[in-house]
Amino acid sequence: MRLITSLIRRTVGRLSAGRRSRLAAPLVLLLGLLITGGMYAALSPASATKAADEDQVAKGRALFLVGCASCHGKNAEGITTVKGGQYGPPLVGVGAAAVDFQVGTGRMPLAQPGDQALRKAPVYDQDEIEALSAFVASLGPGPAIPEKSEYDYSKVSNEEMVRGGEFFRTNCTACHNFAGAGGALPRGRFAPSLNGVSAKHMYEAMLTGPQQMPVFSDQVLTPEDKLQIISYLKKNEATPAYGGFTLGSLGPVSEGLFAWLVGIGVLVGFAVWIAANPARSTRKKPTA
Ligand code: HEC
Ligand code: HEC
Repeated sequence: MRLITSLIRRTVGRLSAGRRSRLAAPLVLLLGLLITGGMYAALSPASATKAADEDQVAKGRALFLVGCASCHGKNAEGITTVKGGQYGPPLVGVGAAAVDFQVGTGRMPLAQPGDQALRKAPVYDQDEIEALSAFVASLGPGPAIPEKSEYDYSKVSNEEMVRGGEFFRTNCTACHNFAGAGGALPRGRFAPSLNGVSAKHMYEAMLTGPQQMPVFSDQVLTPEDKLQIISYLKKNEATPAYGGFTLGSLGPVSEGLFAWLVGIGVLVGFAVWIAANPARSTRKKPTA
């Protein structure tokens, strides 16, 4: 520290001594630029790619080469099949959030190319997932893994949660059903149930839009909106089905079908039974 101050004092002293010197103006400019640059580097917010340490990236790369490169390519550039399909899409720029979501929910590594990657128990532990995320994030900027404060829904008020329900009904129910129970999509795919999904993975799903799900960027749903949706979904998950059978929470259609098939079915069965068993009194002759 003392060295720096003495250095500055000496430079400034020399500069003011030779103010007339031709070197003074460029020197002051250079000093100014250096200071601004240094201040910017020190004070600017960490970018999405974060200064992940080299070791973690190297570890992630090693894991990637073993578990993911066969479909996504050695440098995550993606591999195209002969017919023009994809073994795995390019991952440059998908961001750490996408990896944390895909690997954290067990979707990746995909066992074999199919219609849809299914949720299963994760293959990698948390350290390995972080390393894989750091490696993919180092390839190009993309959404970072959200901070805990961004998806911690414990402090969301009831009023905000109700607003979250409105956001959910306008943005998500078309695919995920109004109770978050999931639903079918074209070509054998489906939107999964949202019960039992962790708050972090919900946030990441909105940020990265897996498969047919659209990306809900912060311009579409602000971080507060996302948090409110999460709190609504968590409340929904914790609410018991007061009505008894939920019948897949599909609403009037499944309830109507149930009433027809089961309700009318019982009545028809009853009618048939009555017809097959005529009143007993007619079998015996009246005694009187
Ligand atoms: C058998 C092939 C296969 C393997 C192995 C595999 N993937 Fe994938 N991956 C795919 C396919 C196909 C998709 C696109 C379909 C989907 O999103 O479900 C995909 C999608 C992804 C996505 C989402 C990309 C996006 O645009 O959001 C990420 C992230 C990802 N993979 C990471 C990984 C990581 C990390 C590994 C290793 C642990 C891995 N994958 C292993 C085939 C594979
Ligand atoms: C166009 C249909 C569509 C819309 C709209 C949509 N999603 Fe999805 N969502 C999907 C599909 C399809 C998947 C499964 C992706 C996969 O398996 O890779 C999914 C997956 C998810 C998951 C991961 C679930 C799990 O099992 O890990 C969450 C959480 C989620 N969506 C939340 C939302 C929320 C919240 C909204 C509204 C803001 C929303 N989705 C809107 C289609 C949709």
